[in-house]
Amino acid sequence: MDSIIAQIQAIAQNTNEAGRLDIIQSLKQVKNELQSPKDAIMELGIPGLTNAMLRIGADMGLFRSLARSDVSLSTMQIAEITGASPPFLERILRYLAATGIIKETGVNEYTTNSITHVLADPKGEAMIYHGFDTMGPVMQAMPAFFAENNYQDVTVNTNTPFQKAHNTKLTSFEWLVQHPKHFENLQKIMTALQGSEWTEGFDLFINEARKVPFKVSSAAPEIPFFVDVGGGHGHQCIELAKKYPNLLGYLVLQDLPEAVKNLTPIDGVKAEAYDFFQTQPITGARFYYLRRIMHDWPDDKATQILRNVRAAMGPDSRILIDDAVLPDTGANWQSTVADLAMMTFAGKERTKHQWESLAESAGLRVEHIHAYFASTYTAVLVLAAQ
Ligand SMILES: C[S@@+](CC[C@H](N)C(=O)[O-])C[C@H]1O[C@@H](n2cnc3c(N)ncnc32)[C@H](O)[C@@H]1O
Repeated sequence: MDSIIAQIQAIAQNTNEAGRLDIIQSLKQVKNELQSPKDAIMELGIPGLTNAMLRIGADMGLFRSLARSDVSLSTMQIAEITGASPPFLERILRYLAATGIIKETGVNEYTTNSITHVLADPKGEAMIYHGFDTMGPVMQAMPAFFAENNYQDVTVNTNTPFQKAHNTKLTSFEWLVQHPKHFENLQKIMTALQGSEWTEGFDLFINEARKVPFKVSSAAPEIPFFVDVGGGHGHQCIELAKKYPNLLGYLVLQDLPEAVKNLTPIDGVKAEAYDFFQTQPITGARFYYLRRIMHDWPDDKATQILRNVRAAMGPDSRILIDDAVLPDTGANWQSTVADLAMMTFAGKERTKHQWESLAESAGLRVEHIHAYFASTYTAVLVLAAQ
């Protein structure tokens, strides 16, 4: 068994993202085939337990404490740090180790593994709280919501499981900005997903980015190169500037006032409050970038957002939608999870055909699709005016 596992690990180390995903899928399939009906009942019968244990762990500062220590901690030491009783901790820690969230190193002794470190990070903590506090009640509300609505698809963002769960008439983002801690958690998760890998092999963008001259003085013309529409805390602008420092001074971050008003200024990035359902104030930028924006909205709202960008575009402007492009068959678990999570507030993941229809509805056409991440089918769709 050990040698088989070593072989799988060796293969995983020498493969790409798609290969890594294939290995995980195959292992899951083997696991499912090996599970007895009783195993399946035990596994599926108490959903939500892991979420509750993660929340308790985060509340107690457990993951941070383990991550701060270079050596394993005993249950007694963890009890002293957290103030929890040792018999309670023994049971919680045993579960967390059994589910691979922390690592057991001896009798009543625990340390971190790679997952613990993710959870100890403030962004990982934000994911725990978002999962439990914002999305947890929504999951609970889904069955009753869909029964009441005769199992129809969710297409109106004021009548979704989100409203039922949080007892509100507000849309998800209206509610989030009124609940700053929840909104902050979402923003931290988005920052955790930062990256500039979307530019790799993306010739159109690379060639254009290289042409931009370093800004030598404040007198240089103010033509933004890249507008990150709904860019949250500006992490994508920061990542881009790390790769292309010449873009500093040509980057604009736009988001709701609640997202940008207290941001520490980002060197070379102009942050402005902007509601993307209003007229886009920046005209003629080379690229308008929308990452994980369109999948938050049903088609009518997504069309409005695109039309507002469309109206601001110059002849060379392009919209870059950084989102998933679902395959027509065989979608993987990550993308189906994302799609159903979006469904709870009327968003959706889209297939190529659905993206084309959406673009068309806003007077745009899909000029190119640059796929860059296999596990989430993430791609940059380049949209040009029709
Ligand atoms: C899922 S997050 C994506 C953030 C960022 N684009 C990224 O990929 O990391 C959605 C973003 O849309 C912003 N947003 C929601 N409604 C908005 C609106 N009406 N105008 C501008 N931004 C909005 C949110 O504040 C949030 O930052």
